[in-house]
Amino acid sequence: MSWIEGAKRRAARAAAAHVQKGSVVGLGSGSTTLHFIQIIGSHLKSGKLSDILGIPTSHQAAAEAIKVGIPLTSLDEHPKLDITIDGADQIDRNLDAIKGGGGALLREKVLASASKKFILIADSRKLTTRLGESCPLPIEVLPFAIKPVLDRIRNLGAKAKIRVGSGKLGPVVTDNGNFIIDAEFGAIDDPWSLQRKLKALTGVLETGLFLGLTDIVYIGTQDSVKDLRRPRKEDH
Ligand code: 5RP
Repeated sequence: MSWIEGAKRRAARAAAAHVQKGSVVGLGSGSTTLHFIQIIGSHLKSGKLSDILGIPTSHQAAAEAIKVGIPLTSLDEHPKLDITIDGADQIDRNLDAIKGGGGALLREKVLASASKKFILIADSRKLTTRLGESCPLPIEVLPFAIKPVLDRIRNLGAKAKIRVGSGKLGPVVTDNGNFIIDAEFGAIDDPWSLQRKLKALTGVLETGLFLGLTDIVYIGTQDSVKDLRRPRKEDH
């Protein structure tokens, strides 16, 4: 296993320790979260965990959960989740993140917002001092509105393009039937303000800025795992 896969696995293992018997668990998307799903599957098989129900954020997460034997449920049946574990494209010291490299940001944010605890897992390459530096911001957009939204995002100062895939001609279509715009803003000075501006554009369904949502980040390194935690109010 390469050091990167080892680092992802270490972060996933640390997050798996937070999953308790009887929990409803949000299952994020991406290669790091696949490690987490596999670990939960093996805990269920060995009897270390029981009575877990998963809610997947994508077809990818659903397929892996089914493969490793995690029973699935839905937000309709369980509108409040105990915990969600997910990966990220970039994470800063405030535990804020850019997500959506895999195009699953809308469902990922829905589950993060509906969870009592939200944990991000990543290898150390994902840490940044400034969100947006060398990392485009994915934005999920209603296909009907794609051109006016693209123009408006460019007017906000981004180099923006509609994501196109491999294995399919034309735009990537998300699990929700929408398009993704990847917007290069460079280092984002005020992510909260940018989030407000983007959400105000009619046709923007969600952005990959995950602000104020994360409780713990586990960062896998070459030989260890580090955690970042949201400072308690009295620490400010
Ligand atoms: C998908 C995501 C992923 O969590 C993010 O892209 C990280 O993926 P990986 O763990 O493969 O680096 O946000 O929408």
